[in-house]
Amino acid sequence: MQSLPSLLAARIQPALAQVCPGAPLPAQLVFPAANPQFGDYQCNAAMSAAKAAGKNPRALAQEIVAALKVSDLCSSVDIAGPGFINFKLKPEFLLGYVGDMLSSPRLGIDQAAVTQRIVVDFSGPNLAKEMHVGHLRSTIIGDSISRFLEFEGHEVLRVNHVGDWGTQFGMLIQYIRESNPEALEDASKFAISDLEEFYRASKKRFDENPEFADASRRAVVALQSGDPATLAVWKVFCDESLKHCHAIYRDLDIRIEDRGESFYNDDLAKVVTELKEKGLAVQAEGAWGVFLPGRKNEKDEPLATIVQKSDGGYIYATTDLAAVRHRFGTLKADRVIIITDNRQADHFSQVFEIADTAGWADKSKSTHIGFGMMLGADGKPFKTRTGGTVKLKDLLIEAEERALALAKQLSADFSDEDHKLIAKVAGIGGVKYSDLSHGIATDYKFDFDKMLATDGNTAIYVLMTYARTRGLARKAGLEIDALIGKVTIRPETEQEWRLLKTIAATPAVWQRVVEDLAPNALLAHLYELARDFGAFWNACPTLKLEDQELKNSRLALAAAVARVIKWGLSMVGIPVLEKV
Ligand code: ARG
Repeated sequence: MQSLPSLLAARIQPALAQVCPGAPLPAQLVFPAANPQFGDYQCNAAMSAAKAAGKNPRALAQEIVAALKVSDLCSSVDIAGPGFINFKLKPEFLLGYVGDMLSSPRLGIDQAAVTQRIVVDFSGPNLAKEMHVGHLRSTIIGDSISRFLEFEGHEVLRVNHVGDWGTQFGMLIQYIRESNPEALEDASKFAISDLEEFYRASKKRFDENPEFADASRRAVVALQSGDPATLAVWKVFCDESLKHCHAIYRDLDIRIEDRGESFYNDDLAKVVTELKEKGLAVQAEGAWGVFLPGRKNEKDEPLATIVQKSDGGYIYATTDLAAVRHRFGTLKADRVIIITDNRQADHFSQVFEIADTAGWADKSKSTHIGFGMMLGADGKPFKTRTGGTVKLKDLLIEAEERALALAKQLSADFSDEDHKLIAKVAGIGGVKYSDLSHGIATDYKFDFDKMLATDGNTAIYVLMTYARTRGLARKAGLEIDALIGKVTIRPETEQEWRLLKTIAATPAVWQRVVEDLAPNALLAHLYELARDFGAFWNACPTLKLEDQELKNSRLALAAAVARVIKWGLSMVGIPVLEKV
């Protein structure tokens, strides 16, 4: 089904073409009215076309309206302010539209017209260390974007570009050899209970013991040249470390396939050779680098992007070039999306530019999504009380604990089992929701209290709304889902109409969510729906109604709200709760 703004836009375009042929169209022709007094939807075509047409925008709006054919959709079309065209939808049209939405298993949302193979590169922790909150955003955002694209019908390759290669691994390998020799015989004897501690201990030995440091450096060389014995130790370490990560992915209900930096080791030399052959990589102060047009240092001198160090070693950028080349060349991806913090924006723009110039990948098909920092409630980088980095595992444990306390307080009479389920969904879901309810690019303050606030744009609020709709169904003794499509929704009050219109806006919201890859727009919509439901709940008695038809209509409306919420939350990886 087309979204409401698209339906209206499809009527406006021919009218506009008729009154001023060739007029430029604004990017978004129709948008939801800023205020209900302006109707339901608004169009700004007259203002953007007026100049080209050499006409006054209001007069042009009048001409457009005269040429418009929307009597089947709209009850009124008005002109307001400098030339906005305001549309009020016909009640019967709206009811039919929502009816169609509800009779489709996808809420009337079509799949993408052209489906693609899309690599989404997210999470990507560095294996030497414990996953910390810095990887939380990448993991949650990447999963959600993957879900969006999967719902659109694309084939999504969810890739975990873990940092499993590089000099720090020499140190870790040597440390295992010395402190865990039994692991060399039998990998199952190796267990790191605390990765962070393991890393610290090996680093300490590296700094204090020159022999260890030398042996570590030799281990790096051996590793990179493919020495089987060294690789075997490295693998023991990586497997164990990945186990830590996957325990977290399981808690978060996130699917992802590991394909770390090491995967590209054999391609690195080829990448640099090809760049040299193409005349792109040139010697720059002993190293090899690519001069990209316009890239300058502070002194305004051309600045090279290094692809091979003077000691022959390769760097992060080389690996990413190999990854782009592999993803487009071998995996035949149509599009690649990489999610890291904002600070890597520059890195990826250079990588995409070089890969484009080298002919490996059209840069318009690669996107880096940079996210802002997660801050503490005090607005400073999120840290433990003692100033250390917060381990992701600890954050999730605390979220669940706090949600458990809340669950006990909200529903003292529930069983332990119920409390635990609520704690898990509201705790983990709360962490996801609070992250995704903010714009991706901006820093945001993470605050457990806000995350668990029962009123506001929070997971728990939306989950409670869903549970209310389910409670209504239980009390009505009906399978209210079965009412959808069978009973006529017959809104009577302003609150019911409001709710119906918000439901009807779902396909339009979705359009923006996938175009902009903006989870926050989806959550804002769920929040609006939950608020509208709250107003409906307060104003519209349901269970006590004598009028059976109206009662069923209200129950069906509640069931519709439940469907949108359940679907919406599933798009950000949050399950629903039957009761809270
Ligand atoms: N390991 C990197 C980090 O922790 C993230 C990897 C992102 N993906 C990539 N292809 N470079 O910052």
